[in-house]
Amino acid sequence: MSLKKAYEPYFKMGAAVPFYALKDQRAVEELCSQYDSFTCENEMKPMFLLDREENMRHPKEHDRSPAVRFDGIRGILDFAQEHGLKMRGHTLVWHGQTPFWFFREGYADEKDAPLVDRETMLARMESYICSVLTFFEEEYPGLIYAWDVVNEAVNDGDLRQSLWTKVIGEDYILHAFRFARKYSKQGVGLFYNDYTTYEPWKREIICEKILKPLQAEGLIDGMGMQSHLLMDEPAMEEYEKALLTYGALGLQVQVTELDIHNADPSEASMEALAARYKELFSILVRAKKNGTADITNVTLWGLNDDLTWLTDFRKEKSYPLLFTGEFQPKKAYYEVLGVPELIEKE
Ligand code: GLA
Repeated sequence: MSLKKAYEPYFKMGAAVPFYALKDQRAVEELCSQYDSFTCENEMKPMFLLDREENMRHPKEHDRSPAVRFDGIRGILDFAQEHGLKMRGHTLVWHGQTPFWFFREGYADEKDAPLVDRETMLARMESYICSVLTFFEEEYPGLIYAWDVVNEAVNDGDLRQSLWTKVIGEDYILHAFRFARKYSKQGVGLFYNDYTTYEPWKREIICEKILKPLQAEGLIDGMGMQSHLLMDEPAMEEYEKALLTYGALGLQVQVTELDIHNADPSEASMEALAARYKELFSILVRAKKNGTADITNVTLWGLNDDLTWLTDFRKEKSYPLLFTGEFQPKKAYYEVLGVPELIEKE
């Protein structure tokens, strides 16, 4: 049995993978045997695809058409194709891991260099999205089934203020999706992706200011709930409410970055982790089965407890995933694996 087999009637199962991890054959085995989808943890973010040297060497030539490079990701894309894996594209437009020079005149690296005007930035955004989507369509057709077009555009009670809003304005989101729609093949899902999407205020803003306006123009296919959860937060009722709210809009929902921070590896604590995963997956499978949320993918943010960003981020060793650092399945793995059968019996 495997996660992808158990969840086949419901949704794709995925994992986020940093390239270096695939040097370990055990990681390759876990990825290929358990999942039918994966996400590059970092390597497809703008800071890795934008060609810094070329843009700085020929800033005039690239003023409205930034140079991009794909040599760093070909290996992993070939790997995915050879192994029959599909991918989530993460992420096109984000305030994070996007270089400041991308927004500046002449691609200048100095912090006080002037920002470009709105028209230039819109041209750069369109060109970037076009280059990336065209590359994938031409060279790896069918490999990517969903794109996070815009990531994390909300915080502090409203739309996030970032270099994107400063240079373009709040309608940068709309433009990003227009460009993504323009250059993507039919059938490739376009997603808005964010964290703590279960918080009531955030849910409200995402629905009213982002999803509904995009839907009105037919520009969006799905909502990405990152789902970096804690052991005691959110309450599962809150999570379910958000899931059903997004589902009720008629959009697909994908759980794009799932992990549950837990710094205590004791048996009791890992059992509690397993129970929380079980509860969450029960909610997901039920919603899919009842047709209350069209969940099309659930992605774990990491292959095992030694390959989790949380240990750095939380500044304490975290044990948040389904496999141990030695690639051994944990109690949480078996609980998640068993959920579809339990729900079928209900
Ligand atoms: C956010 C981003 C991801 C990743 C995680 C931490 O959730 O969307 O790309 O950077 O933070 O790994």
